[in-house]
Amino acid sequence: MAVDRRRFLTVLGSASLAWPRAVAALERDLHDGGEPDDELFWSVIRGQFLIPDERIYLNNGTLGPSPRVVVDAVTEHTRRVAQTYPPGVAWNDLKRSLSGLLGGDPEGFIFPRNTTEAMNFIANGVEVGYGDAVLSTDHEHIGGLEPWKLVTTRRGARLDIVSLPSTPRSADELVQSVWGGVTPETRVICVSHMTFTTGTVLPIPELASRCAEKGMVLAVDGAHPPGMLDVDLDVVGGDMYASSPHKWLLAPQGTGLLYISDVWRERLWPTLASGGWDDLTLGAHRLNHLGTFDESRLAGLLAAVEWAGAIRMPRIEARIRYLRDMLEAGLRTIPGLHVVGAQQEEQKGGMVSFSLDGVESSQLQQHLSRAENVRTRVIGEYDYGWMRLSTHVYNSPEQITRVLELVDDVARNGLPA
Ligand SMILES: Cc1ncc(COP(=O)(O)O)c(C=O)c1O
Repeated sequence: MAVDRRRFLTVLGSASLAWPRAVAALERDLHDGGEPDDELFWSVIRGQFLIPDERIYLNNGTLGPSPRVVVDAVTEHTRRVAQTYPPGVAWNDLKRSLSGLLGGDPEGFIFPRNTTEAMNFIANGVEVGYGDAVLSTDHEHIGGLEPWKLVTTRRGARLDIVSLPSTPRSADELVQSVWGGVTPETRVICVSHMTFTTGTVLPIPELASRCAEKGMVLAVDGAHPPGMLDVDLDVVGGDMYASSPHKWLLAPQGTGLLYISDVWRERLWPTLASGGWDDLTLGAHRLNHLGTFDESRLAGLLAAVEWAGAIRMPRIEARIRYLRDMLEAGLRTIPGLHVVGAQQEEQKGGMVSFSLDGVESSQLQQHLSRAENVRTRVIGEYDYGWMRLSTHVYNSPEQITRVLELVDDVARNGLPA
């Protein structure tokens, strides 16, 4: 692995704070193991959450529930501000901690509120002009796509949309689908690292090297992979990578990040200007001058990153995949049920989407919610009409089995009257 995954325990040294001690204690308590099917280990992790026992939360793709230590970090930080202590989280600690977990150069991180804001920063900040084209796909989230609609409309540029296969057979098929839309006018390609529709991982490194060769910008909507997959930003590539740690990294709501590659740190136009926006020696940090905001969420982000580091990302990813595979395998045995998404393991992650013959996903959603408090997401966008289920470390095999039983019952007997 190109990146040193060593955790930055120095940031935990702040003796006056309780949450770093809680993370350190968790790390000590975790017994060896943590294999995907080590239920004792994962029950300890589940105990870190505030999710009521009777709730089956399978919608992490929308918003991740923070573990207690993250909630405590936010509360602790808010209290300190009320006690008139300085508001800040040490930026450098946060950046180093993120770089330890996700790879990348600490100097490349900035902290907007979410992927939507980060994608707006990118779309507004690159030079797209009259007659240029931006290329994207029909599996993008509005938060990743609409900023480009705005910018291309306003500047007299074109937004080209290619169609991605909903059950891609290979990474190559995905590359070909995107690349087939490139024209002489294409200046920017904007795609998701993982689609929100089917949880398909796009081969970003391959697209990144093709874009670099052609001098095109690759903007990556990475809302999902950080915290789900053992992402290494140095390997993923692309010019800019936007994410929402309040999803899979389980950070507080309203915690985004934008990773900017070396060359763009001095080149990206800031969308919000305050002191220092034009001081190129600040690099990416120029874009962090956002005025006064709630820095407690950054304390929560730091806690979330340290918490994931204490468990270790490879273990988290393996557990997420284990539960997802169990879910997908079970879904595939249900009559009339059609799983959509990638066919090969490398293009899969922690989400699975499907349709069920004769049953609207929104009706199934309502039924699952009423019957057993199951939280799901319906992908109504682009008229796809799929149900999406996400698995994370707080889920259990029993929950997966129960949801499969419920869906199977609807497939065989229909929805209750
Ligand atoms: C792929 C993708 N991009 C962008 C977003 C928008 O994220 P946020 O609301 O955190 O800005 C989402 C949200 O679900 C998403 O799935």
